[in-house]
Amino acid sequence: MASVSESNSPTRRAFLGATALTAASYNRVLGANDKIGVGFIGFGLIGKQHVTDFKKFDDVELAGMCDVYKPRLEEGLQYMGNPRAKGFSDFRKMLDDKDIQAVVVATPDHWHALLTIMACAAGKDVYVEKPMTVFNDEGKWMVQAARKYNRIVVVGTQRRHGKGVGEAKKVIESGSLGKVHSVRMASYRNIYPGFGKTKVEDPPSNFDYDMWQGPAPKRPYQAHRGLYHFRWFWDYSGGQMTNLGAHMIDQILWIMNVKGPTQVQCGGGRFALEDDGETPDTQDAVWTFPGFTMTMAIREANAMRGDPATRGQLYQGTKGNLVLSGAYEVIPEMKIDPVNDIPRFMGHPIGGPVYTDVKPEPWIQPSKGGVTSDARYGTGGEDTMAMNERNWIDCIRSRKRPLCEVEDGHRVAVTCNLANMSMRLGRAIHWDPEKDAVVGDKEAAAMCFRPYRAPWDGVLRSIVKV
Ligand SMILES: NC(=O)c1ccc[n+]([C@@H]2O[C@H](COP(=O)([O-])OP(=O)(O)OC[C@H]3O[C@@H](n4cnc5c(N)ncnc54)[C@H](O)[C@@H]3O)[C@@H](O)[C@H]2O)c1
Repeated sequence: MASVSESNSPTRRAFLGATALTAASYNRVLGANDKIGVGFIGFGLIGKQHVTDFKKFDDVELAGMCDVYKPRLEEGLQYMGNPRAKGFSDFRKMLDDKDIQAVVVATPDHWHALLTIMACAAGKDVYVEKPMTVFNDEGKWMVQAARKYNRIVVVGTQRRHGKGVGEAKKVIESGSLGKVHSVRMASYRNIYPGFGKTKVEDPPSNFDYDMWQGPAPKRPYQAHRGLYHFRWFWDYSGGQMTNLGAHMIDQILWIMNVKGPTQVQCGGGRFALEDDGETPDTQDAVWTFPGFTMTMAIREANAMRGDPATRGQLYQGTKGNLVLSGAYEVIPEMKIDPVNDIPRFMGHPIGGPVYTDVKPEPWIQPSKGGVTSDARYGTGGEDTMAMNERNWIDCIRSRKRPLCEVEDGHRVAVTCNLANMSMRLGRAIHWDPEKDAVVGDKEAAAMCFRPYRAPWDGVLRSIVKV
């Protein structure tokens, strides 16, 4: 029978050690059955998906479940279907458990950093959901912890996997689109008037709201500051910019081989929805990178079906375009004589530009590739999340660098967070991607750090340099 374990051992077992591991030494310290014991922290929408996926891996034991909402802890344990699996309402006890070598962090965003850092310190490898952070310094601390304790830390931006994105990267790197100077993307849906308002009340008795809030500021409970809807509150998340933006921006930074923007400008607000959320329902961001711009439009109260902006990421080059959304399409630009693009009206008076007979022709050939559908939505095709999970397990064994690594997740989160910071400040922010720091703006620089609530700030400082 699976059980909820509350053994209160204060001892932290450094069973896999903080020293550098090789594939051989890692496999020596695994259990007799050679399976990696995985513990799940957070059994919500995506936690349940992770459990479903990891069940399919023969070399993994679903060893532990942790959730601060008791009904979910119980449901999760049952769903895991492993009679040996242990249940925990306090993740610290899971981190102390020697049968668990690796943890999946699928909690709200405000817990991602500290849970990852504490898990690294306890000798666990980590799969942490996106967005990796709520504010920029968290990412630096996570990288620090991963390196200090030699852990494999994978971020849940799974869309870097798959045939289409890999091929699209090659197309763009080949230079066939010419100079790619602009990347555009949009995320539209219409959920008007929103999710409603929830009243301030006592939290349910079987929900540990204090632990749920963790390092975030203490607030009175209301149902939306809890399961799923935490996404629309600044204390816990960055709205759709970090929720959805993280996936697309991860692909773009990877494809374009850049560490981060040099300038970010963003406008928006919660203009249309009539619920109790805080994060924007309308948002437009422009990032400048060396040699190209990136724009993102977010609409929560207008889906504008058919708008080409929602077709996927649009990479615009001098000789062609590439639209990527799992599958990709290359659409040629036309080569013309520039003079023929000047408006004709009645023709130029004497001395003006002279039109020519040069006929337009495509710079490049059209092409298509990748896989359109996503297995995750029941449509068949590739399952990029399963690929990311598999990559994590393989890298735990080989101790090699995963495709979606903690440092990548940090850069993606920084790019998203900077847009939100710019919107909230009402001005452009300049950023130095090499120094990983705001340039010349004390107020913006101060937004890269938020204090953790006690006792969690002490825990953080006992593990990493803040
Ligand atoms: N990769 C993806 O495609 C994808 C998709 C959806 C969600 N996500 C990410 O997954 C995360 C979770 O989202 P969700 O929709 O599953 O949220 P959710 O609210 O449904 O689930 C989160 C769970 O974590 C639990 N929890 C909170 N703090 C905890 C703690 N300290 N210890 C143990 N349990 C704790 C909550 O009780 C809840 O059951 C978010 O960061 C989200 O961005 C990723």
